[in-house]
Amino acid sequence: MSALRGTLVKRVRKASNKPSEDAYTSSRPGESVRILISRERIRARIQEIAREIRKEFGAEPLHLVGVLKGAVFFLADLAREIPGEVSFDFIAVSSYGKNTHSSGQVRLTRDLDSSIEGKNVVVVEDILDTGMTLKYLLGVFRNRKPKKLRVAVLLDKPERRIAEVHADYTGFSIPNEFVVGYGLDYAERYRNLLDVGILKLPESTHEAPASP
Ligand code: IMP
Ligand code: MG
Repeated sequence: MSALRGTLVKRVRKASNKPSEDAYTSSRPGESVRILISRERIRARIQEIAREIRKEFGAEPLHLVGVLKGAVFFLADLAREIPGEVSFDFIAVSSYGKNTHSSGQVRLTRDLDSSIEGKNVVVVEDILDTGMTLKYLLGVFRNRKPKKLRVAVLLDKPERRIAEVHADYTGFSIPNEFVVGYGLDYAERYRNLLDVGILKLPESTHEAPASP
């Protein structure tokens, strides 16, 4: 087992390539991840969203702005599904510390490389939770005078919303559960899972996880 320390073991998948078990096990005692949205569903939904985005913008160039780090895989897959001229950039924010609930404080920790003035911008986020991060970012971007400003989120937890923001493109609406995988983390772990799943922590972990 020691060779597996710190790694994740995906249980056997059937020949059909569908997960035969709906969970990832972890070498961390008591932690596991139950698959909520499979890689196949994620891929299919991203293809649909890419088509919708291209339809809205016609033949115009698009500029995707990914919010680090959670949106990296979503942006990478989305960008490759959108035909025509697509450029992208990244921004990073820190909203609240590990293992704490949202304080509503959002801070820019890495700015864009280039100006978005006059561009068709699509903000690409991993998950819309309280909405505080997106509200802050939209304020920052609006001041920079893009031609159009749209938002694409892979996941939406509408029950948790505090700020009045909405996404123009949403992958999946999910229940109020802490999810990881496909870029989403718990204390920087689990981002590399191919599917999105609900994190189960040991009984002794009382505080609900949340990480920017
Ligand atoms: P908001 O500002 O509350 O909408 O939070 C958005 C950020 O919190 C996301 O970009 C994520 O990084 C993080 N977050 C919120 N919910 C989850 C979750 O269920 N799993 C992992 N990260 C989450
Ligand atoms: Mg995070």
